[in-house]
Amino acid sequence: MKIAVLPGDGIGAEIVAQALRVLERLELPLETEEAPVGGAGYDASGDPLPEATLKLAKDADAILFGAVGGWQYDKLPRAKRPEQAILGLRKHLGLFANLRPAQVYAELAGASALKAEVVAGLDILIIRELTGDIYFGQPRGIRKRDDGEREGFDTMLYSEGEIRRIAHVGFKAALKRGRKLCSVDKANVLETSQLWRDVVTEVGKQYPDVELSHMYVDNCAMQLVRTPKQFDVVVTGNMFGDILSDEASMLTGSIGMLPSASLDANNKGLYEPIHGSAPDIAGKDIANPLATILSAAMMMRYSLQQPAAADRIEAAVKKVLKEGYRTADIAESGAKQVGTQAMGAAVVAAL
Ligand code: IPM
Ligand code: MG
Repeated sequence: MKIAVLPGDGIGAEIVAQALRVLERLELPLETEEAPVGGAGYDASGDPLPEATLKLAKDADAILFGAVGGWQYDKLPRAKRPEQAILGLRKHLGLFANLRPAQVYAELAGASALKAEVVAGLDILIIRELTGDIYFGQPRGIRKRDDGEREGFDTMLYSEGEIRRIAHVGFKAALKRGRKLCSVDKANVLETSQLWRDVVTEVGKQYPDVELSHMYVDNCAMQLVRTPKQFDVVVTGNMFGDILSDEASMLTGSIGMLPSASLDANNKGLYEPIHGSAPDIAGKDIANPLATILSAAMMMRYSLQQPAAADRIEAAVKKVLKEGYRTADIAESGAKQVGTQAMGAAVVAAL
């Protein structure tokens, strides 16, 4: 099994290193190869997604991704910015289904900004469409009007086929979980969302065992902090999913805990923590590696067909939390506060 390892920028290298230690400990026939991406790709070859990196990702069975971005790249033209690397990988590899679970570990319920009783036991899965919508719709740009004023424009666009295939992913995931699917849109205002709602409803007829509901995105943003446990699986478009998944991450106490999988039609996938490159804490050995370690577990489950290995990693993470190990982002008083490397070592020891 060949894994392309793309650490990226900021804390990317530190957290990916810990996930690799965990993978090594599994003693499976895994082969890894590393390549620069994001700002590191730009520095190495003038391109955030160097051709060799894209080729490595295409040839691998799965991709382990750290994070990209840094203040030193913010002034570059858009095509050269680090974010283009992750957007390009998603598009070139057809990774249209983004799974973002938000689970509250019993030990961390107190770390949430919400009351412990509102989030205790929370287990939701946000499924975000990842290769369409206003992120990729054409035309887009900034142009000058006849009166001399500039205007910016983007195109929100979904085809029936794109909506149908992500709807199937949503219904199938719901069947394996609590059999509830909430489709989130803005059909009271947007045409794209009206089509989204119609197509999801149509697909739902093939899944009579799943209870389908529809919710407007503004209401969903509110319900997520009011009664988050009402949700099982949420399926939504690219931009709404981007926003709602960040919101959902905070229910769990720390964005440093949340893994993600981005899958193509054959379950080949890219695995990354949902947090960013956090340049302010890079190189200080304080970042939380657990989201990346849990992403490696998802990789075992979804792309490499090693569910037992996935279970082992997840159990090891639960064990270190139970033992009181905490990185700074989830630390409370009385915890064994550790750095990035020590947290990785604790997970390896638990394995
Ligand atoms: C995410 C990130 C990306 C996105 C950025 C880095 C392009 O916010 O994965 O959620 O908007 O999709
Ligand atoms: Mg985001």
